[in-house]
Amino acid sequence: MPCVVTVGGFYGDEGKGKVVAYLSIKDNFDIAARGGVGPNAGHTFIQNGKEYKVRMLPSAVLNANTRLLVGAGVLVEPSILLKEIQTFNTTDRTFVDFQCGIIDNVHQDKDKSNDHLKKVIGTTGSGTGPANADRALRNIKLAKDIPEIALYLEDVSNSINHAIDTNEKVLIEGTQGTFLSLFHGTYPFVTSKDVTASAICSDVGIGPKKVDDVLIVFKSYVTRVGEGPLNCEITPEQAREKNWLEFGSVTGRQRRSAPFDYDLAKKAIQVNSATQIALTKLDVLYPQAKGIKDFSKLPQEAKDFVSNIESETGLPVTIVGTGAEIMDTIDRR
Ligand code: IMP
Ligand code: MG
Repeated sequence: MPCVVTVGGFYGDEGKGKVVAYLSIKDNFDIAARGGVGPNAGHTFIQNGKEYKVRMLPSAVLNANTRLLVGAGVLVEPSILLKEIQTFNTTDRTFVDFQCGIIDNVHQDKDKSNDHLKKVIGTTGSGTGPANADRALRNIKLAKDIPEIALYLEDVSNSINHAIDTNEKVLIEGTQGTFLSLFHGTYPFVTSKDVTASAICSDVGIGPKKVDDVLIVFKSYVTRVGEGPLNCEITPEQAREKNWLEFGSVTGRQRRSAPFDYDLAKKAIQVNSATQIALTKLDVLYPQAKGIKDFSKLPQEAKDFVSNIESETGLPVTIVGTGAEIMDTIDRR
């Protein structure tokens, strides 16, 4: 996997953070770059019982060998970025593009007080929509205007292209999910930008020919937070019984849930030109799968579920999540 892009296949919260954290440790990537919208996405991973969350840095932070980049297309909230750099002690390996847009209080206030955004769409309130609107109006401040983060600035696109050209291993992390895309999602119940694989590449400044693999992440069931359609949605009580009830990592809101959706999965594979699937939380559907690292040891029903996804989509399921810990993973590559 010399240059791989990870993207969400449903509505975000598929478990991309854990998949990226796993790959960065397992494959020892030289560079991990974050694309996507900005701090509206919280990526979570657990190592040795300790839970970590990132909203600005790539989820590869736990591998001290990996340089951490934030692409020009990503909106930066300086206080969140600085806090994460401090928490993970990554000062000497964090690089932010000069041209990242900056989220300020006015953007956050608008996102929280505007009835359309807050009530109709149900945004995360993190200011990303109003900030992207200002970017489109060519009114936004850029990272190069902010002294507090001056130490971290560089030309991220140049670094990534150079890394790929010199055969370094590059992991590009998408955020949100395909059906939250401003262009390909369930408009208007979407985020403020395209978030499919092409957009994630554009965010970090590489062209489509630089990518070797597009790893699409699906959860074993579908969740959605905020408003908008959700096919075959079950009630919160049913979700609780199945152990599907989840809460948003940025807003704490209760997530809605539904069974795995093959039609959505196929559409997502198409718009992302995905080449491989990572399937997360298999142990939530099949508790006997918990902690298993060898595919052959899975219960038969769980194996059948994975095989069915492969035959329906025509793609290999190469990574399977079987628990919350980063290493609770079956790697079939
Ligand atoms: P915004 O991106 O904060 O403007 O929110 C727009 C919609 O996208 C809302 O339904 C949010 O709940 C959803 N959304 C944005 N980012 C994420 C994410 O990282 N995970 C899940 N839902 C998200
Ligand atoms: Mg999330």
